[in-house]
Amino acid sequence: MARPKLTVVGAGNVGATAAHWAAAQELADVVLVDVVEGMPQGKALDLMQARPIMGFNVEIVGANDYGPTADSDVVIITAGIARKPGMSREDLINTNKNIVAEVTRQVVAKSPNAFLIIVSNPLDAMCYVAYKVSGFPRERVMGMAGILDTARYRCFIAMELGCAVEEIQAMVLGGHGDEMVPVVSATNVSGIPLTELLPPERIAALVERTKKGGGEIVALLKTGSAYYAPAAASVQMAAAILKDHKRVVPVSAYLDGEYGLKDLFFGVPVVLGAGGVEKIIPLKLTPEEEELLKKSAAAVAKTRDELKM
Ligand code: NAI
Ligand code: 2OP
Repeated sequence: MARPKLTVVGAGNVGATAAHWAAAQELADVVLVDVVEGMPQGKALDLMQARPIMGFNVEIVGANDYGPTADSDVVIITAGIARKPGMSREDLINTNKNIVAEVTRQVVAKSPNAFLIIVSNPLDAMCYVAYKVSGFPRERVMGMAGILDTARYRCFIAMELGCAVEEIQAMVLGGHGDEMVPVVSATNVSGIPLTELLPPERIAALVERTKKGGGEIVALLKTGSAYYAPAAASVQMAAAILKDHKRVVPVSAYLDGEYGLKDLFFGVPVVLGAGGVEKIIPLKLTPEEEELLKKSAAAVAKTRDELKM
């Protein structure tokens, strides 16, 4: 039986790292696409040459056109420009809107049955672009952000408590912007509510650090934004679809009335499996959390409106 095919568009920091994680776990054959001549081919060949050492057996090819991407099962879109210090994710909107629209058109022409995982920023708005341009059903278009933001939150909690990251169960919802909502009421450590383990002021500090987690890395790197954890999160989503994991994770999904929101991509808990976004899960929030989520939705809706689509 042929292996599944995963295309990654944009062979920059996130894209190349996603190709690496995916190939290393033999998730699928990987096609890396970028507009820069020779670059995706070079990175693909380099990864191919890592196989005898690391012991993985999938094919990785690089391309500047979409021919080799035909009949992809999953496509991760990372094409675009990334944040530099002083830039918000929203500052990227016009450049990345055109890039994501063009990439989506090309992807869809070759892979009409693929699942699209959008990574380019501003994330929730770029999902909207891909959804509108692709004409795909909403189950097959989604954005990566919540898994990354939750991983940052889980990481900070584990660092604070000095315990293993796997023990932290949590959920960060809302838009992928500074108004995102780490849901404290849904955070526990092996079943023990976080609120029983840390005082409110420490929790507030961890929540604040999570919300600014992307910016913290931009400030350190100075030339771009995070890519190891974003790539890992994107590959976890691709794996959930390709292997029908039925993971319960936050992704940016198209809402049509759920959470009181319509015609908006927004980070909510979903079941992610072979059918893509198989189910959107309602979550009981505290009144304060509901208020924060509303604020986040207003910010995402404003960016969506700026798209004028
Ligand atoms: P990068 O600059 O390293 O890579 C972007 C790549 O896209 C470049 O190689 C560029 O040549 C390519 N590209 C540009 N236009 C293209 C086109 N029309 N077709 C194909 N490729 C094209 O940037 P990086 O760090 O990989 O980030 C990529 C995007 O992902 C950025 O918009 C960034 O803000 C976003 N991002 C989103 C995250 C999230 O949580 N959703 C997390 C991290 C990054
Ligand atoms: C991040 O959160 C910049 O969205 C990117 O790292």
